[in-house]
Amino acid sequence: MCGIVGYTGSQNAAPVLLEGLKKLEYRGYDSAGIAVVQDQTIAVSKVMGRIAGLCEKTADGSLLPGTTGIGHTRWATHGAPTDINAHPHTSNDGRFAVVHNGIIENYLELRQELTQKGYHFESETDTEVIVHLMEMYYQGDFKRAVMKASSRLQGSYALGILCSQEPDKIFVVREASPLILGVGIGENFFASDVTALVAHTRNAVYLEDGEFAELTPDSIQVYDCAGHPIQKPISRISWDIQAAEKGGYEHFMLKEIMEQPRAVKATIAPRIKNGEIVLDDLDIDMHCVNKIVITACGSAYYAGCAGKYALERLCRIPVQTELASELRYADPLIDSHTLLIVLSQSGETADTIAALRECQRRGAKALAIVNVVGSTIAKIADYCLYTWAGPEIAVATTKGYTTQLTVLYLFALYAARQLGTLEQERYRSLVSALKMLPKQMQQALDMNPGIPKLAQKYHHSESMFFIGRNTDYAVALEGALKMKEISYIHAESYAAGELKHGTIALIHERQPVIALCCNESVTEKTMSNIVEVKARGAEVLALAFRDNQKIVSLADDMLFLPRTEPIFCPVVEIVPLQMLAYHVAKENGCDIDKPKNLAKSVTVE
Ligand code: M6R
Repeated sequence: MCGIVGYTGSQNAAPVLLEGLKKLEYRGYDSAGIAVVQDQTIAVSKVMGRIAGLCEKTADGSLLPGTTGIGHTRWATHGAPTDINAHPHTSNDGRFAVVHNGIIENYLELRQELTQKGYHFESETDTEVIVHLMEMYYQGDFKRAVMKASSRLQGSYALGILCSQEPDKIFVVREASPLILGVGIGENFFASDVTALVAHTRNAVYLEDGEFAELTPDSIQVYDCAGHPIQKPISRISWDIQAAEKGGYEHFMLKEIMEQPRAVKATIAPRIKNGEIVLDDLDIDMHCVNKIVITACGSAYYAGCAGKYALERLCRIPVQTELASELRYADPLIDSHTLLIVLSQSGETADTIAALRECQRRGAKALAIVNVVGSTIAKIADYCLYTWAGPEIAVATTKGYTTQLTVLYLFALYAARQLGTLEQERYRSLVSALKMLPKQMQQALDMNPGIPKLAQKYHHSESMFFIGRNTDYAVALEGALKMKEISYIHAESYAAGELKHGTIALIHERQPVIALCCNESVTEKTMSNIVEVKARGAEVLALAFRDNQKIVSLADDMLFLPRTEPIFCPVVEIVPLQMLAYHVAKENGCDIDKPKNLAKSVTVE
C-alpha cells in the first residue's frame, strides 16, 4: 500500500526522499512522486511506474533542489495509476503539497463542496480534497489550517504537508494509518515504516491516532487533536540496515525463506527458561476463557488455521478461526469469556484492526501476535507477543507466517500449563520438540535440492491443487496462497476428503496435485485420494517424511521433510512449499518480491 516519507534538514531533500521511497517499494505501489520547497516555491515530480523512473526524471533528485520535502509511493485506490493521480498533490495557488496514505471516505462530499467554491481538481483521487482544504483554511497560520482541514476528514490518513510560505517546516497528521517520526541531529524525518528511517536514525517517535506534529530541522513538536503540545517518548529502533537488505540473495523472499530457522529460534529462545515457557508480558487467566477466536487476513489467517489444531489439542478449549474481513461484520458471538487472538505481521492490516476493535467492544480481551514493534495492533490489543522475525520485505510472507505459528505453539503450551491439560512429562517433551524446530526447518531446506528441477517441470501448469487433511490441509491453504501470489498460477487448496464432492471433476491428464502427507494420523486416507486423482491422470507431487516408502512409491515426484513432533509439524512442512512457489515464480519470470496488484501492508479495507 502507499508509503510516505519526509525530510527537513540541511541536506538536499530529494535524494534522501528517493532513497526512503526505495526502502518502501516493498509495500507495493504503482506510481511515485516527490515535492521539495525552495525559495517559497514547491517543485513536484511524479511518475507512473517504478521509482527508478522518478530517479531518472529528476536526475537522482538533483533537479529539485531544496532541503525540505515529502515523497510518496501510491497503490491506486481512487483513480488509475497515472502521473496525474500520483502524489504529491498541490493546491491551486501552489502554496501546499500533500502526500497521503489511507482513504478519505467523505471525499465525494468534500469534492463537491470545494468544486462549488471554485477549486479546480486535477486528479481523480480522494487525496486531492486535502490540499484544497488547506488552501481554503489558510490565513497565514499553517498549524491552524492543518487542524481545520484534518477536522473535515473522515477515514484513515497519514499525511505529510508542505507550505511554500514556511519552507523549513512539515506538518504530519495521523489517523488510523501508520506514521513514525525519525529524530535526527539538525534534521528530522517521517515515514510510514521504520525501514525508510533506519539508514538515518534509530530514534523514533510513534504518533497515535488523532495526533499531529510539526517538524523543522531542529525540532519536533507533537500536538494532540486539540492542538495542545504533548511530550512523546523517543523509542529505539532495533532493526538494523542489513536486516532490510538482500544480503547477496537474488530476492528478499529467498533470503527470508532461508532466514526462517534463525527467526524461529529468535522467537522461541528467549521464551524458554529452565524447560518452562515464560511469557512475561502475559497475565491472562485462562480459567476465565471458554472460547478462543483467532482472526487475521491472508497468510496470517492461515497461520491461525494451522495453530488452531495445536491450541485445541493442548488446551481442550474450542478454537474458532475467522477471516477478519468477515468477522468485523458478522455480529459475532463474543463476550468477556472469549480470548481473541489477532495475528498480523505488519500490525497495520485495516480489516484485522477493525475486527479487533469490534471484538473488544463486545468484551473480549485480545492477544496480538505481531512482528512490527509499536504498530497499531500491538498498541490497541490488551496483550502482545512479538514474533521477532526482523523486517520482512518480500510481499509474500514466509518468516512472518512461520514465526506467527511458532508463537501460537508457545502460547498453546503456556495456556495448557495453566489449565493443567498436559501431563508434566508430555509438557517437557513438547518444550524440547519446540526447541528442535529451527534445526528441522534447516533440514527441510537442505533435503530438497531438487526443487528448482521440479519447478522446471511444473511451471507451465495453468492450475494446481494442494490437498491434505487436518494439519496438512491447513498447510495446503498457505502453500496454495504462496504459489498463486508470486507465480500467478491458479492454485487451490482442498481438504482431500472433499475432492469427491466436486473438485475431482477438474482433474485431467497431467493436472498437478500437490499432496501433503505429513500428518500420519490421516496419511492412509490421503493416499486413497492420491490413488483416485492418479487414476484420472493427475501428476502427483507429494510431501512426506523421507522414510514413508508407501508414498514414495505412489507419487510421481517427492518433497521431503524430517520427522517432527506432529503437533508442530506445519511450521516445518510449509518450508519446501515456499521454496517450490519461489522457484516456479522464478521460472515464470515473475517479479517475486513485488507481485502485481499486491501490497505488503493492506491498510485499507
Ligand atoms: O501484515 P498482516 O500479517 O496482517 O498481513 C495479512 C495479509 O495481508 C498477508 O499475510 C498477505 O496474505 C500476504 N501477501 C501473504 O503472503
